[in-house]
Amino acid sequence: MSKPTLSLDGKLAEFSPGQTILDVAREQGIDIPTLCYLKDATPTGACRICLVEVKGARTLVASCAMPAGNGMVVQTDTPEVRKSRRLNIELLLASGNHNCLTCEKNGDCKLQALAYAYGITDIRFSGQTQQYPAETDNPLIVRDFSRCILCGRCVQACNELQVNQAIGYGYRGAKAKIVTTGDRPYNDSDCVFCGQCVQVCPVGALTEKKAKGLGRSYEMTKIRTTCPYCGVGCQMWLHVKDGRIAKVTAVEDAQPNRGMLCVKGRFGYDFIHSPERLTTPLIKEDGEFRQASWDEALNLVATRLKAIKKKHGADAIAGVSCARSINEDSYNMQKLFRGVIGTNNIDHCART
Ligand code: FES
Repeated sequence: MSKPTLSLDGKLAEFSPGQTILDVAREQGIDIPTLCYLKDATPTGACRICLVEVKGARTLVASCAMPAGNGMVVQTDTPEVRKSRRLNIELLLASGNHNCLTCEKNGDCKLQALAYAYGITDIRFSGQTQQYPAETDNPLIVRDFSRCILCGRCVQACNELQVNQAIGYGYRGAKAKIVTTGDRPYNDSDCVFCGQCVQVCPVGALTEKKAKGLGRSYEMTKIRTTCPYCGVGCQMWLHVKDGRIAKVTAVEDAQPNRGMLCVKGRFGYDFIHSPERLTTPLIKEDGEFRQASWDEALNLVATRLKAIKKKHGADAIAGVSCARSINEDSYNMQKLFRGVIGTNNIDHCART
């Protein structure tokens, strides 16, 4: 049976039932801008940036929420569409504090990029800016409500992707705000600090506290790596400047984590640059540690392991490798225990 079709900017495109106009347009390589749309979550149609013209419809429609229909005739870039998108961008800019110079997200902000793309140089409206103070009292996430555009991506990510259900919409009208249960700070809420809300926030309302002041996004080098903490193998980006990790984000559209991370993967990297890290081996003698060379330490370990094995057998020895070591080190550790020492007594603190 042939697939249903619609006309997109004059071109016929096939689609599968359940796809939205936005899905079909993206498959066809047609760029429709979005702000609130979040892949894999229910569309909310909150921002009205993805508006398109559908022949016969009384108003412009949000393409992210409108199912594609057989025989539809859709125009994605008419003067009316551009005018409406422009107006909506202006209204968002008027609704809060969008001073890019002082914003942590400068250079990596979807609203800023849209304002530039649509040539907005001044704002015709004076809006009521959010009066809620920023929340800075947890060590990981800054919530700046004055920069929030209420797109709801954080709510969708928390409730539908991570399924933590820690945040939702609160209050009404100009006082509307993203809240936890009882509008408590993250510290006192059900938040588990996975940071998914930060990852999906398109503006500077939610930012990583530890990355503050460490550099703009365009100054960072992004290095793809695998999270070392457990056996899932989540894909992540290290955002690095001057040899220091400023923050960690999940790789979108990559298996197995599909753009998500847990609190350890996203925020647990302080140890890398910690001044408390050991830089030389230590040998304990008479209850006190003393510094030793690598040769001395390794020889001591080898001698003691050989003696234990000779006296009690290989299974008298066990090893636990550390999740903060690189995956290759953990692999070598089990090779040493199985292949050299001859025991399967080897484990990993974050085994899954
Ligand atoms: Fe469609 Fe926001 S992206 S309404």
